Amino acid sequence: MRQPIIAGNWKMNGSRASTKELLDGLMAGIDEVKTAEVAVCAPFVYLAEVRAQLSGTPIFWGAQNLSHEEKGAFTGEIAASMLLDFDCKYVIVGHSERRSLYGEDDNLVTKKYAVAHRSGLTPILCVGETLEEREKGVTEDVVARQINAVMNTLGASVLGEGVIAYEPVWAIGTGMTATPEQAQEVHAFIRRLIAEKDAHVSDNIRLQYGGSMNAGNAAELLAMEDIDGGLIGGASLKAEDFLSICRAAG
Ligand code: 13P
Repeated sequence: MRQPIIAGNWKMNGSRASTKELLDGLMAGIDEVKTAEVAVCAPFVYLAEVRAQLSGTPIFWGAQNLSHEEKGAFTGEIAASMLLDFDCKYVIVGHSERRSLYGEDDNLVTKKYAVAHRSGLTPILCVGETLEEREKGVTEDVVARQINAVMNTLGASVLGEGVIAYEPVWAIGTGMTATPEQAQEVHAFIRRLIAEKDAHVSDNIRLQYGGSMNAGNAAELLAMEDIDGGLIGGASLKAEDFLSICRAAG
C-alpha cells in the first residue's frame, strides 16, 4: 500500500505573519488527517519559522528548489546541506516554473535530483507537458524524456526513493484541472515506464498529481488507482482548503 502524500508548494507567497497564521491553522486541523503524509514546501527564508513551528508535529516540510552544487562561490544559491540544517525532508526539483522561467533543463534537473538524494533529502521530481505538447499528442514523449533523464542516469532505485509529481503545465494556476481520467492515464503511463526498468519501484513509488487541485476536485482525483497524492499550489495557502484536500487523501 502506498501512503498518500499531500504537499503544499507555497511558491513565492507569504510573509512571516501569514506563514505563522497558515501553520497555526494547519496544526489545528491536522489530527483529522488519518493516513496521508502531509508536507509544506516553503520559501527558503521562512524555513526557520516553519521548522520552529512544525517540529514535533506530524507535518513535514521542505524547499522548492536547491543548488546542484554542494557548496562554494555560487552567489544566491542554497545547498542541500543547508536545507538539511533546517531539517527539511523534501525538496521540489524540476518544477515547470523553474524549467520554463529559469531555463532548467533535464540535465540540470538530474544534477539537482542527484545532489538532493545523495544528501538525504527526498526529491519531488516534477514532470508534465505544455498545452501545445498535449495538443500535438506528445505528452507521453515529454513525460518519458523528463523521467528517463533521471532514471537512466541515476538508476531506477534512486528514482524510487523520491516522489514524482505529474503536473500538466496547462493546469497549473489556471483553474483548468486535468480530469481524473486524463491524470490517471498519464500516471498509469509513468508506472509502466518505470516498470520496464524495475517492477518493485514502479509498484511502490508515489505519484502525485498537481495543477489546480482544490478542495472541490481532490477526492475524485485521489480516487484514481495510480494517483497517490497531490502537489498543491494556490489551495495550499489557505489552511482550511489544504486540510480538506489532506482529509480527502485519507
Ligand atoms: P496550482 O495548484 O496553483 O495550480 O499549482 C500547482 C503547482 O504548480 C504545484 O507545484
